[in-house]
Amino acid sequence: MEAAQALGHEVWITQAQNLSVVNSQAWALLEKVQLKPVQLSQGHWVVSPQWYSVSDAVLCSLADMDAVFMRTDPPVTIPYLYATYILDYINPEQTLVINAPRGLRMANEKMYALQFQEVIPETIVSQDKSVIRKFVEQQGAAVIKPLGGKAGEGILLIEPSDRNFNSLVEISTQRGREPVMVQAYLPAAKDGDKRIILLNGKPIGAVNRIPTGKEFRGNMAVGGRVAATEITLQDHKICTAVGPKLQQDGLYFVGIDVIGGYLTEVNVTSPTGIREIDRLNGTCLGKEVITWVETMSHEP
Ligand SMILES: Nc1ncnc2c1ncn2[C@@H]1O[C@H](COP(=O)(O)OP(=O)(O)O)[C@@H](O)[C@H]1O
Ligand SMILES: [Mg+2]
Repeated sequence: MEAAQALGHEVWITQAQNLSVVNSQAWALLEKVQLKPVQLSQGHWVVSPQWYSVSDAVLCSLADMDAVFMRTDPPVTIPYLYATYILDYINPEQTLVINAPRGLRMANEKMYALQFQEVIPETIVSQDKSVIRKFVEQQGAAVIKPLGGKAGEGILLIEPSDRNFNSLVEISTQRGREPVMVQAYLPAAKDGDKRIILLNGKPIGAVNRIPTGKEFRGNMAVGGRVAATEITLQDHKICTAVGPKLQQDGLYFVGIDVIGGYLTEVNVTSPTGIREIDRLNGTCLGKEVITWVETMSHEP
């Protein structure tokens, strides 16, 4: 939003519950927002207390917009899916929707990675305790992930000898009612979980998140320390594998997670990290994204 404003665009905001379809077109109650840009001060982004103001709400056709970003946090709930069905009633020839509603419906952030078998760690998805136990015994140690989680929520490190093994599987699968992802534990996770931002299938920046203290998860939300990093040859290999599929699915703005050279997650709903990358690398990825959106909007 800040980058769009800096590049001379109007920025309007809405929420899923304020979307409608009228005459087969998507409409929204919109508020025009004015932002005060953040400032970098001693290595931190600093924001003024009154960092934004909004106008009164007006009902507008989303066809009047050049682009619409949907950036709702997971979990992907039924109302989330309904919002994507409403955004289907935006003419994509006229208004770019980021990410494409069909892509948001198709891509489960954990399971999307499974189609790139050559770049992921050993992984299963199951709700069956015996299948999960067999896999964890083969791997020695594994990570259980709820399919709808984010920011480290519900991520468990598990070993076959864990005295809570059965209980942990029961809790995470809601006693066999919900499948979970179970993935080989990658010891390289202690050196960091790299977030790579892809724009239209190409990497534009990366940041490492390193677990600190007594926590095995690297997510920023659970105290992971961010550090500057590079996009390596292996990272490019992963992006080359994933990029064309992302483009095909209309997943234009995505954050992938890479641990020890393996792809572990494809974040499509509301990927974070560009502020950290900008701070550490002196880039301005927001402007890069909006400049790309401008080129897409100007295409006939
Ligand atoms: N296979 C793995 N081996 C070791 N640690 C992992 C593995 N997968 C995830 N983690 C740790 O758990 C954290 C969260 O995992 P992730 O799959 O990115 O889910 P989310 O970020 O949506 O909660 C990562 O930042 C990483 O520290
Ligand atoms: Mg993640």
